[in-house]
Amino acid sequence: MTMPKKASITLIGCGKMGSALLSGWIKNQVIEHALVIDPHQIPGVFDKNEPIEYFNAPPESYKNGSDFLIIAIKPQILKDVGSKIAKTLPKEIPILSIAAGQSLNTLESIFGSSRAIIRSMPNTPAAIGKGISVCIPNDHITETQKELAQDLLETSGRVEWIEDETLMDAVTALSGSGPAYIFHLIEILEKSGIELGLSPEMAGTLARQTVIGSAALAENENQKPASVLRENVTSPGGTTEAALSILMDGRAQDIFNEALNAAKTRSQELNS
Ligand SMILES: NC(=O)c1ccc[n+]([C@@H]2O[C@H](COP(=O)([O-])OP(=O)(O)OC[C@H]3O[C@@H](n4cnc5c(N)ncnc54)[C@H](OP(=O)(O)O)[C@@H]3O)[C@@H](O)[C@H]2O)c1
Repeated sequence: MTMPKKASITLIGCGKMGSALLSGWIKNQVIEHALVIDPHQIPGVFDKNEPIEYFNAPPESYKNGSDFLIIAIKPQILKDVGSKIAKTLPKEIPILSIAAGQSLNTLESIFGSSRAIIRSMPNTPAAIGKGISVCIPNDHITETQKELAQDLLETSGRVEWIEDETLMDAVTALSGSGPAYIFHLIEILEKSGIELGLSPEMAGTLARQTVIGSAALAENENQKPASVLRENVTSPGGTTEAALSILMDGRAQDIFNEALNAAKTRSQELNS
């Protein structure tokens, strides 16, 4: 990937997602300057020599300019914090928001209806360059701004663009919250292993490594549908088939449908 120029960004909120994105930008040397606004000190992972300027509250002015203002605070405080920032933020600075459930309309009502804005939903594997971000721009975003956002987000993994914003709640439910479901699967496998008589340590190691190995295999063999990868470990009349006859009887699918629907509904509520 070649960056046309190194970006200068302002990051509001440097918690789990903000710091994951910032790590990727620093590691990939795609930013020349980051102005970070967060009540806490910058997480220790960042070297003192990194091009980061830190504020514990919005600065009075943004004199150095920014190619993007990145919003990575909790949705619940967006209106309050955003309104304060909007007062001093120059009109020409575009916004890239990763706040769950906050529509382009809501963002425009806070930062101005003529502001260029991209709404994006990343996920935490962004911290190691294995994330996926789904984005939608408003009408004011230029092609150059879109490309810069693409370049920034690509440092943390794949980037997809959508045109129908109503899909963002489903995206949030699947990939935004999704890593937690997979970590919970590790917990489930571990507990089942203990039930079968394995020690907690052994069950934990086997569960985690099985998920790591399977994910790596799915990445390596990304042309093959998941169903084929599954079939490759299922011999007729074997142990895997015995387990899958239970896992695939519809109950697991029903539970996931219910869980993702709850996440989607919550995403919709966060915007109301
Ligand atoms: N975590 C995910 O998997 C994920 C995935 C996709 C999108 N997102 C979105 O990413 C955003 C951040 O989520 P997160 O999980 O990273 O949350 P988080 O870890 O709580 O990070 C938010 C950070 O913002 C700080 N903050 C609070 N008030 C602030 C203010 N006035 N100005 C600047 N910073 C302030 C918080 O400090 P305090 O701790 O003191 O409040 C915290 O350090 C959310 O909108 C979420 O919807 C998260």
